[in-house]
Amino acid sequence: MAKIVAGMGTSHVPGVGAAMDNGKTDEDYWKPLFEGLVPLRKWHAENVPDVNIIVFNDHATSYSLNNYSTFTVGVGERFKPADEGWGARQVPDMRGSPELAWHIVECLMADEFDMAVVADVDLDHGLTVPLSIAYDQPDEWPTEVVPVCVNVIQHPLPTAMRCYKLGQAIGRAVASFPKDITVGVWGTGGLSHQLGGERVGVVNPEFDTAFLDNLTADPLANAKLTHTDFIRDAGCEGVEMIMWNVMRGALSDRVEEVFRFYHVPVSATAYGAVILENVQGSNA
Ligand code: DHB
Ligand code: FE
Repeated sequence: MAKIVAGMGTSHVPGVGAAMDNGKTDEDYWKPLFEGLVPLRKWHAENVPDVNIIVFNDHATSYSLNNYSTFTVGVGERFKPADEGWGARQVPDMRGSPELAWHIVECLMADEFDMAVVADVDLDHGLTVPLSIAYDQPDEWPTEVVPVCVNVIQHPLPTAMRCYKLGQAIGRAVASFPKDITVGVWGTGGLSHQLGGERVGVVNPEFDTAFLDNLTADPLANAKLTHTDFIRDAGCEGVEMIMWNVMRGALSDRVEEVFRFYHVPVSATAYGAVILENVQGSNA
């Protein structure tokens, strides 16, 4: 049977991808970030699953605000990096995992999550930047991906609890996939940030740190946060953190944090990343 081996949460700041694409990672501004990512990349080099389920949000790039579903699973064979206004990133196409993706869709529907499905969609920085963070600049991405897009753009948004429960349902779906493959689950976005309005530039290390601590210590505390909590304490775009709850929900009851990095600022955000490994013997 398929097995979820680990989860990663990471910010998906587009500037991180641009710094890599334009050879700026050694500049004073970017160096501390990329030095902090060295152990994360080492872990990924040593732990390459067959498939990564990447829970991310499209930033009104490929989905129009006239047509934005709450949860969308990508079932295509291949996905291209999206043109976000200045040409598509020169990174490899993403190889999809249609068989696992369709299995997840079928299981989620049976589990009362009414998923939207998309075959042909270009993927924006919410998904491509985390791949670059994990795997640097390879000729081919080392894993297949199942993109799971969450609406954090156009209200009403799914709750943090709904996202946690979606993750639990994804965990059950993977556990029932009848092939011996290994699977990673990533949640991208955040951490605290606000890109416009009167409170532009909000960064809240105390809130972010409590959220990161609770991924291991008390994931239900993160699931009980309201949108108002996120917007008040972490800025409007800080609400992207609900996608980390999907990742956490897909893991075991107990997890071990094997990597954490937190760095302020990266563009308008607090950059954060964690890697969580399932504790064997605790329930999925
Ligand atoms: C930034 C962060 C994001 O998560 C995003 O989607 C776009 C921009 C930023 O900090 O620049
Ligand atoms: Fe974002």
